[in-house]
Amino acid sequence: NVETKVDSVLNLMTLEEKIGQMVQYNGGWDLTGPATNAGNKQKEDRIKKGLVGSLLNVLSPEATESAQRLNMENSRLKIPMMFGYDVIHGYKTIFPVPLGETASWDLDAMQESAKIAALEAVADGVNWTFSPMIDVSRDARWGRIMEGSGEDPYLTSRVAEAKVRGYQGENLADPQTIAATAKHFAGYGFVEGGRDYNVANIGKTELNNFILPPFKAAADAGVATFMNSFNTVDGTPATASEYLQREILKGKWDWKGFVVSDWGSIAELIPHGIAKDKIEAAEIAIKAGSDMDMEGGAYETGLKKLVEEGKIDEKIIDDAVRRILRVKFKMGLFEDPYRYSNKNLKSQVNYEEHRKTARDIARKSIVLLKNEGNLLPLKQNQKIAIIGPLADDKDTPIGNWRAQGEANSAVSVVEGIRNLGPRNISYAKGVDLGMGEKSFLVPLKINETDRSGIPEAVEKAKAADVVVMVLGEDAFQTGEGRSQTNIDLAGLQKELLKKVYEVNKNIVLVLINGRPMEITWSAKNIPAIVEAWQLGTESGNAIADVLYGKYNPSGKLPVSFPHAVGQEPLYYNHKNTGRPYTPGVVTSSHYTDIENGPLYPFGYGLSYTTFKYSAPRLSSDKMNAGDSISVKVDVTNTGNLAGREVVQFYLRDKVASLARPVKELKGFKLVELAPGETKTVEFNIDEKMLEFYDAAGEWVTEPGEFEVMIGGNSEEVQNTDFEFIKQ
Ligand code: IFM
Repeated sequence: NVETKVDSVLNLMTLEEKIGQMVQYNGGWDLTGPATNAGNKQKEDRIKKGLVGSLLNVLSPEATESAQRLNMENSRLKIPMMFGYDVIHGYKTIFPVPLGETASWDLDAMQESAKIAALEAVADGVNWTFSPMIDVSRDARWGRIMEGSGEDPYLTSRVAEAKVRGYQGENLADPQTIAATAKHFAGYGFVEGGRDYNVANIGKTELNNFILPPFKAAADAGVATFMNSFNTVDGTPATASEYLQREILKGKWDWKGFVVSDWGSIAELIPHGIAKDKIEAAEIAIKAGSDMDMEGGAYETGLKKLVEEGKIDEKIIDDAVRRILRVKFKMGLFEDPYRYSNKNLKSQVNYEEHRKTARDIARKSIVLLKNEGNLLPLKQNQKIAIIGPLADDKDTPIGNWRAQGEANSAVSVVEGIRNLGPRNISYAKGVDLGMGEKSFLVPLKINETDRSGIPEAVEKAKAADVVVMVLGEDAFQTGEGRSQTNIDLAGLQKELLKKVYEVNKNIVLVLINGRPMEITWSAKNIPAIVEAWQLGTESGNAIADVLYGKYNPSGKLPVSFPHAVGQEPLYYNHKNTGRPYTPGVVTSSHYTDIENGPLYPFGYGLSYTTFKYSAPRLSSDKMNAGDSISVKVDVTNTGNLAGREVVQFYLRDKVASLARPVKELKGFKLVELAPGETKTVEFNIDEKMLEFYDAAGEWVTEPGEFEVMIGGNSEEVQNTDFEFIKQ
């Protein structure tokens, strides 16, 4: 069995070889030939000695094979390396950014996109992705909010499981699957002020109740690896957190995989101010349970010395190496180190089929926010002006963290509409948005001055029946290092929108973006708003499908949209406070300049049809400990079109030993309904669902009244109560 095999290898290893397994390098040079600069030459020498456990960013079957050969043909023990890469929302075929894809609430679809991403990644020699990112986040200012599944722990947990299943399949050794990573462990989505890499001041109950559940779900789903996080949690850098990595993950959860650091996060314990040098950083991180050092140079510098000086026990190193070897055995790398470097695979990948799936998922991810006077769907014979910097943009929909998705490879909205067949359309860009060089590490410049295209746009708008305005965020406005204090439409977009509005009020605003935006003016004045996220390769086709009613929109927001950025962090599952908001009462919890609550709530989204909910019916209004009851609701399609609805089920623990949220999502179901059709949807309620992490650090259930709420979004719900009885 695997454990015996792991031990048999471990027993042969020198201390230096063990530490080598705990080192991951960026392989960003052409590994098919010899290294040219001194740094890479040094890395190459270490690979030859078997002192590197993994490389990241090596992308081709040729390069991964050649790197693996350096290792296998020269090293003493021939322990295969893993090849990691950030495959976040697709590899070459790009799917919606994760926040957008989560808006589909379609777990099968999300599993499928991960499966496809794995197939395409493997064809390029990649066998390990640093995904899914399952950081619950409530702050639209945080640039990385687009990489996660939004503000809800339950929804994020279900997505985490779907993604792990999609990437890893049933069997990690199947060369059509890749190892997944649950990241960032933990608290990264709660960085103060939404500023990337900042501190997260969260206590244990908040951490356990809201941040850790998706990670537990990923661990239970068998995720191969975890990545720790750049931020501190209540003063301790996550990378240095024994509580998170040893006590919870490897202790209480008994998870057997390995933890990779985030890029350089072990060495970053120095600027955090908790280690004086790399040696001390290595000591702290290994004791805390970080098993592999990503490009930080701390483990290779410090671990040997630390063992020799008796500062750390070699057993702790053995535990880390055992975990790494275990994953490598499960991936089948010891049987065939080259199994993921198959040059024939690429020609077998059905990219055309993948695009079809990408279109399907993209349209399911679109959220209809407003549709006054049924301006949508558009009619084929209407004269349409398509206006805006993102209307014919083929790059922005690819989003940030785009893996091998080519720049400018998405279908634009203009193209998507043209692809539907003859239409009377005109197009004007109006203004530019992002300018100059755009890439992961380059700060983005926004156009604030060039208004030269506005007159043409206004003319075209004037001549049209309906204006489709495509605005939002550049691909590099969201993602790592892209936090913002202003989440309004950037640059001259709002000015353009208002100028067009002066001449034609029949506007459909299509938003292409990666975070909740402040769109209060638009919500008040623009009759139709479509949240289209950064939808990936098939973006324009998917948007056209929705605009012209070829797909009836069904997406629901996985995150609240604020009235104003000053409300952030904003989330539906907040606490009531001792002074809940009461209109007109100065001394109640509120802002004086804006109403409480969101502009568009969590779970919100319209359809071209309408749905009616019955009151929820409980099987019993009492539930004993250990038992379960159920709640049923009838949902009717009351419109003229077939549609799909996300039926959402929330609970509130009315009185508990801790202040509990005003509601928490506990279940959801997707139902397809023909016009006039009614379906009964049922949710089971069991004791596990009532659990929370209490002030004493225990997962408990407490007797008392619970409120059940069911509806089509987190605000429009109907409720009923039951009593939970514990003797
Ligand atoms: O996986 C990423 C992580 O999310 C942020 N820092 C770099 C890692 C590897 O690219």
